[in-house]
Order: sequence, then C-alpha cells, then structure tokens
Amino acid sequence: MFRAAIASLLFLLTTGAAPAGDALDIVVYGATGEVGSHIVQEALERGHRVTAVSRNPGKITWRHDNLAVVKGDLLDKTSVTGIVAGKDVVILSVRGVIGDSGLPESALQFLSAEMLVDVLYRWGDDAPRLLHVGGSGSLEVEPGIMYAAKLPTILLPRKLEIEIVGQILALEFYRKVDDVDWTYVTPPKNFTNGRRTGEFRIGGDEALRDRWGRTRVSRADFAVAIIDEAEQARYSRQRISVAY
Ligand SMILES: NC(=O)c1ccc[n+]([C@@H]2O[C@H](COP(=O)([O-])OP(=O)(O)OC[C@H]3O[C@@H](n4cnc5c(N)ncnc54)[C@H](OP(=O)(O)O)[C@@H]3O)[C@@H](O)[C@H]2O)c1
Repeated sequence: MFRAAIASLLFLLTTGAAPAGDALDIVVYGATGEVGSHIVQEALERGHRVTAVSRNPGKITWRHDNLAVVKGDLLDKTSVTGIVAGKDVVILSVRGVIGDSGLPESALQFLSAEMLVDVLYRWGDDAPRLLHVGGSGSLEVEPGIMYAAKLPTILLPRKLEIEIVGQILALEFYRKVDDVDWTYVTPPKNFTNGRRTGEFRIGGDEALRDRWGRTRVSRADFAVAIIDEAEQARYSRQRISVAY
C-alpha cells in the first residue's frame, strides 16, 4: 500500500499526470467553449479520460488517446443520462438562453443545473460529482451586496443579464441540494488569456482582489482549479471562487 502510494507520487512528480488507476472519467459540457476547452486540455494533460460533449462534435478537431468526442445536447435528458452514466465527474461550462421568455430561469446555466441534479440524485452514491462553472455576478463586492447588483443593467445586452441572474439562481438552487455532490466554482469578474501559472487563491462568497484591486484569473489557471477540485473533492456542496 505504502509502496503503491510512493510509486503514485513518483509518477506524478515525473510526469505530472495521474497514473492509470487514479485517472478519472470526466465529462465536459461546453468543451468547445472558451473556458471548457481549457478544462479539457488540463484534464488530458493530467492523464484523465475526457468525454467532450458538443451539439456539433465536428467542431472539436483535437485528438488524444484519452479523449472521446460525443454529440450531446443538455436540453435532451435521455442523451444527458446516457453520456454521464458511470462517469466520475461531470463539468458544466455552458452558456445560453433558451426561448424568449426573458426570464432568468431560461438561462442554460440554471436549466442545466436543474437537469443534471435531477439525473444524478437517482444514482445515490454511485452518481458522478458535479462541478458547475459559475458566474461572478453572485460574488459579494461589499458585505451583502452582489456584483450583479452593481452592474449598469441598462448597458447590458438582455441575454447577458438573463445569464447573470440565471447563474445566481443556479447557485441558490444548488444550495438546497443535499443528495448530489456538487461544487459551484466561481470565476472572478475578468477572465484573461494569460498563461497557466498554477498559482491562484480559492475564496468563498467574497470577490477576491489582487494587490491592485483587480478581480481576475486566466482561463488556463481557472481550469487548473477545476481539475484540482475534480481530483481532490475538497469543496463538496460548496460555492468557491478562484482568482489571483
Ligand atoms: N466573469 C464571469 O462570471 C464569467 C465570464 C465568462 C464566462 N463565465 C461562465 O463560464 C461558463 C462558460 O462560458 P464560456 O465563455 O466558455 O462560454 P462559450 O465560449 O460561449 O461556450 C458555451 C458552450 O456552451 C455549450 N452549449 C450551449 N448550449 C448547449 C446545449 N444546449 N447543450 C450542450 N452544450 C451547450 C456550447 O457547446 P456547443 O456549441 O459545442 O454545443 C459551448 O461549448 C458559463 O457558465 C459562463 O456563464 C463566467
């Protein structure tokens, strides 16, 4: 046992990737997206097996021995059930507005949270864990005041406003869920195209600021935080935030 642990550690130190026995089966919804594509790359680099889902799988042109590309739509529950069954972790990194009701409940971020929880809770302890890429609108910029409340809504595209509030609804929804292992991972206000440094902080409800008062992280580092959580499950049934 001890020897196996040492062998695992040595493997990680020398390759940076998980040994085959520790590799996770990870489903990424939003694999073609700006954030999700970094998550897929980070997971593959660490030796995990990734199922990248897209409504148009032809958009995914990368190839890797541990990458399966599948066609799937979050609005199709039968498809979702088939894709996530038997996996270890499901990552939701999607955006969109469904229909023209104009209601925040029509944000895909909220609808897909409800859908996945409804699929997963039925499998009890055998269900995959659920990691949700959240929205910074739900972070507190002052005690008790969310960033969303400070936004000049008159200047925001209506669809974006629906998504921002939809992400807040998704968080409120998760907070009532105790029969699925979820984590809501919140980016800061600004995503950058900066390089992967592996250095960032994990916070809670408050927006983290760097020493210049900025709230930011690169998509590559955000992906590191997501796969750290996939591997370590440190923040089960919690909202966390990631920023420099
Ligand atoms: N500062 C912030 O708070 C902040 C900033 C940016 C993003 N975000 C959040 O980060 C997440 C990812 O954003 P992003 O910028 O990476 O988005 P993006 O580049 O616009 O990608 C959106 C993804 O959603 C997928 N998608 C849309 N409808 C779908 C459906 N019906 N079924 C399955 N997949 C569907 C798309 O996949 P296909 O088209 O391939 O099917 C695409 O990969 C979102 O939750 C967003 O709210 C937060």
